[in-house]
Amino acid sequence: MGDVLLSAQDLSVRFGGVLAVNKVSFEVRQGEVFTLIGPNGAGKTTVFNLISRLYQPTSGQIVWHGEPQGGPVVLTQQAPHRIANLGIARTFQNIELFEHASVLHNLLVGYHCHATTGFWSRLFFTPATRRSELTARRKAEEVIELLDLQHHRDAMVAGLPYGVRKVVELARALCTEPKLLLLDEPSSGLNVEETADMAFWIQDIQQELGISVLMVEHDMTLVSKVSDRVLAMNQGEVLAMGTAREVQQDARVIEAYLGTVDDVSSLRRTPQANPAEVAP
Ligand SMILES: Nc1ncnc2c1ncn2[C@@H]1O[C@H](COP(=O)(O)OP(=O)(O)OP(=O)(O)O)[C@@H](O)[C@H]1O
Ligand SMILES: [Mg+2]
Repeated sequence: MGDVLLSAQDLSVRFGGVLAVNKVSFEVRQGEVFTLIGPNGAGKTTVFNLISRLYQPTSGQIVWHGEPQGGPVVLTQQAPHRIANLGIARTFQNIELFEHASVLHNLLVGYHCHATTGFWSRLFFTPATRRSELTARRKAEEVIELLDLQHHRDAMVAGLPYGVRKVVELARALCTEPKLLLLDEPSSGLNVEETADMAFWIQDIQQELGISVLMVEHDMTLVSKVSDRVLAMNQGEVLAMGTAREVQQDARVIEAYLGTVDDVSSLRRTPQANPAEVAP
């Protein structure tokens, strides 16, 4: 694996009496799939919300190393809208899409966070704007092909099955051409076959597009299949870090999940509403 892409240093965040994240440190390296696991309420989505700048940490910082020319960027000092420009995209635990727009339109919105043309240029549809539109369309078509969405390209999102909507959300994140993709429970609500497909997409994204992935996931089959390294959390704290196998065998992890069982491979959570979920 490559150099460090993102480092979380001693991150903590408190909501009233709840210390949702407590002195958490980790590094995501260039090219890897790094996965956060942990029981419900462990603080996983909160870590994502800190990276996305939806939450401000109580202490600690996140440093982004994805700007090789510009040097490290302290992410926790950036405005939320800068995050996508820096090359960080995410999907949500509960799907967040424009339900009454087509798949293609949802993907074009994804690309437009990169639009470099100004307001007047867009108003008068100048050649620069036209070029930017064409690039957006090309990128969207490329991602549609990659994720096998051709069949649904012009369909309204609201009418699509849940499993397809999950892939559309992934596609929209890819259209921003990220260096780091944050996936919050990519398999939640999917059946076994759809989860297996999701594992292939994640591997393609890592291996063919060279995008690093930071994932939160409960399905240990998916976690074991795609993760280079896994970090287990419980009640806001780091319990263990290592390969999926090492972490599943860690006594503190086993205890945090169930108390007694000798592995955590069969854990699969049913989807539920989450207080940490915030719309984009
Ligand atoms: N905006 C908020 N206000 C108050 N408490 C919050 C907020 N966001 C998160 N929390 C609390 O922080 C803790 C961690 O929540 P978080 O959603 O990060 O857990 P999680 O590991 O993602 O769990 P799950 O597996 O259920 O998605 C929980 O106790 C949660 O209730
Ligand atoms: Mg969560």
